[in-house]
Amino acid sequence: NTDQELAKLITEKLREIPDFPEPGVLFRDITPLLANGPAFAELIQLLADKYRGKVDAVAGLESRGFILAAPLAISLGVGMLTVRKGGKLPGPVIGVDYELEYGTARMELRPDSVKKDDRVLIIDDVLATGGTANAAMQLIEEAGAKPVAICVLMELLDLGGRAKLPDTQIDALVSF
Ligand code: PRP
Ligand code: MG
Repeated sequence: NTDQELAKLITEKLREIPDFPEPGVLFRDITPLLANGPAFAELIQLLADKYRGKVDAVAGLESRGFILAAPLAISLGVGMLTVRKGGKLPGPVIGVDYELEYGTARMELRPDSVKKDDRVLIIDDVLATGGTANAAMQLIEEAGAKPVAICVLMELLDLGGRAKLPDTQIDALVSF
């Protein structure tokens, strides 16, 4: 089925890079998947099959989420919302600050880009601590729409992101 095909495709095309960005961290790189035309097209096709008819907009999380959200939105025939890092969008914006391991980060959204009650799919490459996805959820809700699911290519289970997102459908295509 679609989920199995997605998991196979992602697992086969990932590249594992030890000690990046820090010693002891195993970085899982999606660049080989993106650079492979047929594989990237198949990824978007399968994602579109998974969500067709279920969402009214796709929200991409800057920056790696944008790579997935734009082609998926086109495939589904819906619009794309850009949830951006702090300070990138002209006003009026709403924002959510969240904790990183060291310091804080901020994501922002223009609420006037969001249609009230739209079913929104949030998409990103990785769910790690869950801070970014949680901020996006809050922004979509505050803007008056309904986040129906968070889709990530990979979930890093050790970092416990899911715990920050109770009552949320999290579609992790591959978990480590
Ligand atoms: C990475 C990744 C996710 C986020 C996951 O983005 O692309 O968006 O971190 O981490 P979290 O679950 O702990 O919030 P990053 O901020 O490194 O930037 P990029 O997408 O611009 O590369
Ligand atoms: Mg990111």
